[in-house]
Order: sequence, then structure tokens, then C-alpha cells
Amino acid sequence: MALDLICSLRFFDLRLFGGGREALAIAERLGDLRLCIHAQSLAGGLSALAASRGWAVESAPPSPALGQCWLVASGDPAQDDELVALAERAGVAVFVPRWPERSSVRLPLEVGRAPDSSASSSRNRFQPGRVSLVGAGPGDPELLTLKALARLREAEVLIHDRLVSDEVLALAAPGARRLYVGKARSRHSVPQEGINQALVDWARAGYRVVRLKGGDPFVFGRGGEELECLAEEGIDFEVIPGITAAIGVSAYTGIPLTHRDHAQSVRFITGHLSNGSIDLDWPTLAAPGQTLVFYMGLGSLEVIARQLIEHGMGADTPIALVEQGTTARQRVHVDTLAGIAASIAGLDIAPPTLIVVGGVVSLYRSLSWFERASATSLGWRHGKHPSPLDRAGEA
Ligand SMILES: C[S@@+](CC[C@H](N)C(=O)[O-])C[C@H]1O[C@@H](n2cnc3c(N)ncnc32)[C@H](O)[C@@H]1O
Repeated sequence: MALDLICSLRFFDLRLFGGGREALAIAERLGDLRLCIHAQSLAGGLSALAASRGWAVESAPPSPALGQCWLVASGDPAQDDELVALAERAGVAVFVPRWPERSSVRLPLEVGRAPDSSASSSRNRFQPGRVSLVGAGPGDPELLTLKALARLREAEVLIHDRLVSDEVLALAAPGARRLYVGKARSRHSVPQEGINQALVDWARAGYRVVRLKGGDPFVFGRGGEELECLAEEGIDFEVIPGITAAIGVSAYTGIPLTHRDHAQSVRFITGHLSNGSIDLDWPTLAAPGQTLVFYMGLGSLEVIARQLIEHGMGADTPIALVEQGTTARQRVHVDTLAGIAASIAGLDIAPPTLIVVGGVVSLYRSLSWFERASATSLGWRHGKHPSPLDRAGEA
């Protein structure tokens, strides 16, 4: 029978069998627990981790007399099978990520944090769980889909990014375990592999996992990479789209992405700088009749404006920078390609910020309903007007 021993593993004599990638994936999540690794040789990462944590390494063959809890991850199914069988005969607790149904304990699955007692569940359910990859929208919680809201309310484990607003997080089931794995530009709090592994592990352990991402998970959100990993591991998943920043920002600034007089197409582009430059097809981007929306482009604003002008776009083409779009903190800065850098110099512009370039930006002056509404007492901003989410919460 499976036991929840997350909180008491600290007091166990833990043994990890395996020296490769699978063993490293477990070891990385053990925090400061005491451990002895049994392997003939250790992969580089595991060897470094063992040294830094002061873990013992032994090459002795497994014996039933060793330890009280075995973590089995040799990388070889036949060898894992032998080890699990030996543990079962010896009455030693065992965790084997390959076969959750044969595990008699839960491993501390926490990402980037030490386990604590609240991770323990009263269920002994080892049916694999499911991951819902959910788009949280650009910020305003009322832009969540009904399906996203339903999944948030059912979530047992919520793994979320920096861009998910507090208001959206507040809608999750109160008992849901929250794991923050957010990324800031070039500063990743949990490496992508760690996030992928956490999704696999929590789902394997039988939890309803919601992977919540700002905007839409498939638009510059690495949602595809995470699902590829789940698919490889045979984990069940679904995808619930969200309103991507471009759509939300367009609506809340009154800058339509297309308009018969200005743009017949729209392009979503990453403005992420790599080694100080962006490798984009500038001649195509500078072509007339389209709207350009740059995500992650704040740090490369000057490069973007310069390249577009150099490749033939009018220096007087309007450009908008939209900070924290759709939220009460939304701020919009409009100028021309030639003038934008100077006009925002000295301003403390905070991410997330989206850049919109093209003739449609000229409509901002006449169509920017959101800021105007909030400046009046009409109270269209969330919080002042009764929200459908409030009513749903009363049910
Ligand atoms: C890593 S991308 C994630 C995009 C997200 N998956 C989406 O569909 O909106 C992060 C970038 O999205 C843009 N962004 C996200 N939310 C935003 C918001 N509320 N206001 C302005 N820009 C936003 C910013 O350009 C930010 O740097």
C-alpha cells in the first residue's frame, strides 16, 4: 500500500540506486535530505550535486540490509525491476518514478523548495493524474475562460509563472498546492527541465495538475515544449487557450490589430535580444499594410525602431508601448518610430510590456476607452462593476 511519507523522509535512511540522468532528476528534488547514492559511476551533474550536498556514494551491490527507503532510478527497466522486487521482499519502502503503481512511498516532489508536511495527501491514489495546460490571459481575471476557471477550482497542484496575476491565482481552489516557477528575462527561477519534470512527477503521483501560464500557453509560452515532455512520458494532458497579450492589449487600448484603412495582416514577433541583437527578417517586417506586435521587446526597443526605419518603414510610423495591459496598472506610451526612444527616456517602464507598430496605433487617441472609463466615475474597471466571477463564486 502506498504511504504518504513526504514529511517524514527526513528521518529515513535514504538510498538512491542509479547514477545517471534519471537518478539526477530525483536527487535534484531532495533538497537537503541526507542521502547515500549507490552506483558504479555518477554522471557529471549528479557527481557535482553529491559533492555539494555532502552525500555518500557507494558502489556496493544492493542488499536488503541497506537503508529504509530506496529511490530506484537506474535508467534500466530490468535493473529497476530487480531492485523493486528486492525492496518488496525485504519490506523496504520504495519509490520508483518509472512505475508509480509499484511505489510504496511518495517522494517529496516539491520544485525548488524543501518539502513540508502540507505536501502530504490523505489519498493513497496512484492512478496517474492529468495536466491541464491553461492560459491565464493577460492580467484582468475577467478575461479567463469559463473552462480555465473550472480547472483552477479543481486544481490540486498549481504550477504557475510570473505573468499570472494575483487576482487570477486567487481564483484557484484554496487547498491547491502552489508552485511558482516563474521566469524573468535571462533569470530562470526553475530551469525548464525542472518544470517539465515537476509536471511529470506530480501527474504520475496522481494529482490534478494545472500548469498556468500568462496569456496563451502556445504563444511564446513554451507550452509546446512542456507538452512534448508529457507526451513522451505518456502523461494525459489537455490545453485550454487563453487570451494572448496582443489580443488583450489591443482591446484595452482601443488599438485594433487589423483595420481596412491600415493593416491587412498582423504579426506576433519575439523581440527577445540574444547577444545584443535580434535576428529577424527586417525587410519583410518593414513592409506596409501590417501591424507588428513585439513580445519581450522592451530591452530591444531601440534596435527594433532603428532596424524598421533602416529597412524602409516611415520614421513617422506610430508605435505604442503598453505596460501591464488589461490591468489597473496599464500605461500606454505612443510616439513615432523616430521619437519613441527619446519620449520614454527617464520613464520607469515596467515589464510586461508589449510593443505595437503600425498605422492602427493612430486610432488609440480616439478609441482608448479603458483609460477614459477608469478616469470617470462610470466604474467599468474591474472591482467597481459586479463581476461574473464574483457571482460564480457565490454559487
Ligand atoms: C514570455 S512572453 C509570454 C506571452 C504569453 N504567453 C501570451 O500569450 O501573452 C512574455 C511577454 O508577453 C508580453 N505580455 C504579457 N502579458 C502582458 C501584459 N499584460 N501587458 C503587456 N505585455 C504583456 C510582454 O511582451 C512580455 O514580455
